Amino acid sequence: MTAHAAFPTPDGASDPARRAVLTRAAALTALTATASGCTSGPRSLPATAGPPPFRFRGPRQAGVTTPQQSAALITAYDLVPAVRGAGGVRALRECFGRWTRALAEVLDGELPPPSPLRATELHRTAGRSRLTLTATVAIGPRLPQLLCVGAPPALRELPPFPDDRLDPAYGGGDLLLQLCADDPRTTAAAATALTRLAGDTLRPRWRQTGFLPPTPAGQTPRNQLGFKDGTENPTPQECERWVWSDDATFLVVRRIHIGVAEFARLGTGRQEEIIGRHRVSGAPLGHRHEHDDVDIFAQTPQGRYVIPLRSHVRAASPRLDAGARMLRRGYNYDAGPDDRGLLFLAFMRDPALFVRVQHRMTATDELSRFTEHRGSAVAYVLPGALPGEDLGARLLG
Ligand code: HEM
Repeated sequence: MTAHAAFPTPDGASDPARRAVLTRAAALTALTATASGCTSGPRSLPATAGPPPFRFRGPRQAGVTTPQQSAALITAYDLVPAVRGAGGVRALRECFGRWTRALAEVLDGELPPPSPLRATELHRTAGRSRLTLTATVAIGPRLPQLLCVGAPPALRELPPFPDDRLDPAYGGGDLLLQLCADDPRTTAAAATALTRLAGDTLRPRWRQTGFLPPTPAGQTPRNQLGFKDGTENPTPQECERWVWSDDATFLVVRRIHIGVAEFARLGTGRQEEIIGRHRVSGAPLGHRHEHDDVDIFAQTPQGRYVIPLRSHVRAASPRLDAGARMLRRGYNYDAGPDDRGLLFLAFMRDPALFVRVQHRMTATDELSRFTEHRGSAVAYVLPGALPGEDLGARLLG
């Protein structure tokens, strides 16, 4: 089947497949009011259920506080060597223009002039799954310097941490693209399509897939240790205060290898002490319900802390950061029997929070004995593309 047969007539409107997409896209529009900010409901990001509320255009990019899909693909790119200075700004502006038109067409049903994306895999991806796609674009610390453009002062490389075992094959990048969907074929196809559209400007540097286990709607997915992961995430109001800043945010990526077999050999009680939560319910130790408060100051009548001193939730507690929160949106990764772990993805208004928590974890957290940070990147998530505007408009002028 040719690309043209799969996707369609120049105006698209007479093609049944295209019409169906547009109808669904229109139906999704009604849902987007709730998708542009934090979702309401439980504190963890619920697994998607029913029609996905994602759109590409809006003041904020999707893929941060929108419901978490089950598949993720992070691709890090570098600017090609010729893309520098004022010429580089022009090249990246054009690249972002192509990405914006492509994504607005596929996700929002915009009908631009004949689109270069028509002939790509993104359009060939099957059915509903395409509409669960979110694309989140963020720039790395080197990009503003190479293009001589202004950037938020908080956009800096992360410092080295004592236990880091970073592999250059999974680190850095002038641009990070987070693609999430309910089907890994959708993220893979979108990455292929967008990489092709960026070919003269961006060169892929590394990539990492992530997945969530099948999880009933509204429940918290489990990580490879078997614990619920993502329970204690900021509420919508807390996201406004601690995640977003002028419709932008920061993304910290860590590819964390986990000694799954070593951890599994511990008894359940010992595992729970290390995490600070019950394994089955996800409740904080000493509690019964997953979303009960994690009170790191509570003590037993014998004067012992209920949440152990060397537990993970204590080291990570926002109470030690004057209430500052990060939004964790992590995925499991599986790169074969010797390398499984957590693709840690967290959004926050200042990556200094990650640095503080990570230092505490290195110093006190028993979970660190079972983990090895092998990949790392930090990036500034651009504000969204408003109607008539391209991604990066405010960065590149
Ligand atoms: C493989 C590594 C890691 C694993 C397996 C892991 C697992 C968990 C689990 C099971 C919880 C409790 C449930 C929840 O609230 O989501 C949790 C909480 C948390 N983790 Fe991690 N985590 C890892 C690494 C990290 C890192 C690197 C950071 C940041 C530097 C971090 C920050 C947090 C925070 C902020 C919380 C919530 C604490 C609270 O408010 O109670 N985690 N993690």
